[in-house]
Amino acid sequence: MSEGLPRFTLKYASVKLYFGPNAIGELERELKGCERVLVATGKRSAKESGALDEALSLLAKLGVSYEVFDGVTPNPWASQADAMAQRAWSFGADAILAIGGGSVIDAAKAAAMVAVSGGRAADYVYGRRRARGWLPVYAVNITHGTGTEVDRYSVLTVEETGEKRGFVSIYPAASVDDPRYTLTLPRNQTVYTALDAFYHAYESATQPGSSPFTEMLSREAVRLLRAWLPRAVENPRDLEARYWLLYASMLAGIAIDLNGTHVVHLIEHVLSAMNPKLAHGCGLALLGPRAAYYIHRINPRASAAVLAALDPTIKPVPEDAEKAEKAVREFQRLVGFEERLSDYGFTESDLPKIAEKSGSPLGLKTPEILDILKHCL
Ligand SMILES: [Fe+2]
Repeated sequence: MSEGLPRFTLKYASVKLYFGPNAIGELERELKGCERVLVATGKRSAKESGALDEALSLLAKLGVSYEVFDGVTPNPWASQADAMAQRAWSFGADAILAIGGGSVIDAAKAAAMVAVSGGRAADYVYGRRRARGWLPVYAVNITHGTGTEVDRYSVLTVEETGEKRGFVSIYPAASVDDPRYTLTLPRNQTVYTALDAFYHAYESATQPGSSPFTEMLSREAVRLLRAWLPRAVENPRDLEARYWLLYASMLAGIAIDLNGTHVVHLIEHVLSAMNPKLAHGCGLALLGPRAAYYIHRINPRASAAVLAALDPTIKPVPEDAEKAEKAVREFQRLVGFEERLSDYGFTESDLPKIAEKSGSPLGLKTPEILDILKHCL
């Protein structure tokens, strides 16, 4: 049932976003002039969600030739973007249609630069090369977490260095956020991706130099996540819940595009580079509650404003840091998140290395990073 869930078009930066049930039909006008399109996906979810079949029908209807590249995994490697670029180039693609969650869309954005501007994806990760041109990327987003369908970032892991890094790549030319495609997300992915959106909202608003505009987006995102995530966990086929989770993750995606992330994302990238089986949102949720304690001490005003939807009694003073930690922990518990870092093979002896690789986000010192890590073992 999709009555009452508005479909709309939104222009943000250089992205045209088509949002709402059945919004994929709007891609027709974007893809009309294309002759050859490389369709990028992961192994399963593009198909399971129904998005792949609908996108391929659209291409067939328009008479556009296509090839499917399905070589993107979660926590994608830079070499996967290189392989995708190679396919796009040898096929003579004039666009990439990325159907997936953050991994697929991030890799496609990087591949789009490599295919036109040369070099390897790792060159862009480390800023050794700048894109002078790129293939347009059309993104069909099938999770409610990353926000990559509206932001300019990609996250890739570079094989040679073992480093997972976020870097400025490109905005998609146009994106589709259709909540129907998120109905098949399994329970753990439902929670992980929504918590990814939660940390985008919380970190961007508490970033030094953030703005009232970002804070507004973040507050609304957290309010919606608190209201609808328990509903989606209870009933995964609830389209209304999925609609508002997707809307929240889109708002949070704009928030990180404007002000970026810090502590939680930075440490999480170190963890999931060490163990690629750790899902991004899961890693964030492991670290997040104790990180919130420090974030609240550093920026109590913005922290209290964003966390008000979880606990309106948190005061904008450093003394309420423990309350901030508790509110985040209880929210995660409410949606069934109970995992530990040790479930992923990490032990106490790994912590100093993780802390060292994490640097000092928000000016946190090594003992403070170690304290965050110890709390999630
Ligand atoms: Fe994230």
